[in-house]
Amino acid sequence: MTQRGISTAVVLVGGLGTRLRPLTNLLPKPLLPLLDIPLIGHQILWLARNGIQRVILAAGYKAERLRSELLRHDWGLELTVVEEPEPLDTAGAIKFASQGLEETFLATNGDLILNPSLADMVAAHKAAGAAATIMLRRVEDVSHYGLVLRDDTSRVIAFLEKKPEDETGQRTVNAGVYLLEPNVLHLVPERSSWSIERRLFPDLLASGAVIHGHLPARPYYWIDVGRLDTYRQAHRDLLAGVVDWCGPWVSEQATISPQAKLVAPVFLSGGVRVGPEAVVGPFVSLSPCVEVGEGARVEDSIVWATARVGHGARVVGCVVTPEAVVPDGESISDRIVMPK
Ligand code: GTP
Repeated sequence: MTQRGISTAVVLVGGLGTRLRPLTNLLPKPLLPLLDIPLIGHQILWLARNGIQRVILAAGYKAERLRSELLRHDWGLELTVVEEPEPLDTAGAIKFASQGLEETFLATNGDLILNPSLADMVAAHKAAGAAATIMLRRVEDVSHYGLVLRDDTSRVIAFLEKKPEDETGQRTVNAGVYLLEPNVLHLVPERSSWSIERRLFPDLLASGAVIHGHLPARPYYWIDVGRLDTYRQAHRDLLAGVVDWCGPWVSEQATISPQAKLVAPVFLSGGVRVGPEAVVGPFVSLSPCVEVGEGARVEDSIVWATARVGHGARVVGCVVTPEAVVPDGESISDRIVMPK
């Protein structure tokens, strides 16, 4: 499927990911593994499924690592990494990375895993003759978010600060996915730190430009993997089968003792070894070459490549990072296990 005229996406991946430390000391956030696909890979797969042919990653923090890990894969589209000289915030980064683009393009927050169809959004943007279109999602509890209010033609009429209640009943918030006409970036000063939500969109609204608010007709999966709890939630959701590009799986190259027990859903990569009487699952992923010792128990956890869970250890609600070892017999829960 080709989105008429929309072939390019600028994806924001330059943040420091401070809320995900210490994991983001090891890896930039876009590379956090989820069922052996880096976080940003989930978004690239969604973009490719929606006909996007070119993805420009607007990078900063650990940009070189992103390049070396991502550019060696074939994602089914053209992928480039543009590195900012200094952090430019969201709108500044989009302006910097989109230099030379002359057609309507998509811009997204790279922390998202989501699966809405883009076709209706593109059609709505064109039909409205909008300068920008913001994808919306409806939330139950509005108190954590700024609201995006629309009139009955879906034109955005106000951005409201966080409030305990939404008297309008719309309950619609910014989903971090935008269609932009390149000329809206004239409102962003060259090489300045500039926020899309706090500065560009309010300025655009004040200028009288049409901003369209698009709430997809069909409910869709959406999660922002910005914190440890949402990283773990995304992992559980993917294992529960919320998207169609990945899900539970056991590699034929995994060595699982006949006396071990796997409790679905699980994801086991090649080179994984699970010892006798071990119990793995539910909601566990073991990346390549992870070892789970005899009699160990692993539940609701993300175990990165080459980590080891010792004999008789119990690991619940944890992220175990590469080369980390949970000692024999140790019982841990709700922790990040780092290498020594
Ligand atoms: P925290 O430090 O934990 O808040 O994470 P973060 O730095 O990633 O910030 P946040 O989650 O608010 O960022 C939302 C999205 O914008 C993420 O995809 C970031 O990578 C991206 N982002 C934030 N600031 C910048 C920036 O200055 N440049 C670029 N290129 N991307 C940015």
